Amino acid sequence: MTESMIIVNSLEELFYVRRFLDAPAGLVPTMGFLHSGHISLVQQARRECKSVIVSIFVNPKQFGPQEDLANYPRNLERDLQLLEAADADIVWMPTSEMMYPADYQTWVDVEKLTQPLEGSMRPGHFRGVTTVVSKLFNATRPDKAYFGQKDAQQAAVIRQMTRDLSYPIEIVVCPTQRETDGLAMSSRNSYLNPEQRQAAPVLYRGLCAAKTAFEQGENNAVRLRQIVTDAINGEPQARLQYISCADYKTLQELERVDVKALLSLAVFIGKTRLIDNIALE
Ligand code: PAJ
Repeated sequence: MTESMIIVNSLEELFYVRRFLDAPAGLVPTMGFLHSGHISLVQQARRECKSVIVSIFVNPKQFGPQEDLANYPRNLERDLQLLEAADADIVWMPTSEMMYPADYQTWVDVEKLTQPLEGSMRPGHFRGVTTVVSKLFNATRPDKAYFGQKDAQQAAVIRQMTRDLSYPIEIVVCPTQRETDGLAMSSRNSYLNPEQRQAAPVLYRGLCAAKTAFEQGENNAVRLRQIVTDAINGEPQARLQYISCADYKTLQELERVDVKALLSLAVFIGKTRLIDNIALE
């Protein structure tokens, strides 16, 4: 499509405009408050697809009762400007009432991959994610869908769901975009005050220190986790929630890194919970 970007709210409008999209069509699901990480997904979709659909929906079903749904940052006007500049074709912005009417009762649940890591800290989170992504897939019927490596477990869970439910969709995982000091871009970085923002690159510094040790021959997972833990403990603003060194495919914790591994962590900086990860191979 070459005309200007089309913004749709209802399913009826979406189904109507969807019919005119050239294949392959790429979908980039987001919760808005877009940053260069999100835009890098749109750009990759633009390079690989004839049409690009972006969804913006702050999905209430993936937030826990104590989480930041009500305060989740929003800036729709800016999001639409960024998407126009990135040459998206369709922006779909459903409402909560449309996605989950009062009698809503159907869920998509990936059983095993959702248990460790983020799943163990955020019960019900991935059930909300897979349910909404499945609904977004059904509504937009993309040929390819784009996700960020920043949320490595989410990408793995969605790959599994796509295989298990026989969606004819290629899942593309795009590299984590970082600020110049290494902090992974995230909508939640906007919660950090200046002092906390200064402390936040410690996540990536810790991961890189462990990766360096790994590249120099350290493959004991306990010691690799300890290197990251020491880095986080050295930053007074930061509190480690978990550090994991797990098999990249199964996400089960490793004793020794002799297969491709995912080193991942969650850290509180004040009340803000940040996650990051790096691959060891
Ligand atoms: P959201 O947090 O808005 O992220 C949308 C997509 O952008 C996800 O695939 C995420 O991994 C990717 N992303 C976020 N930060 C990134 C970064 N720094 N570099 C590269 N990619 C990055 O993830 C969600 O929304 C939701 O769970 C969603 C999949 C939309 C379902 O509601």
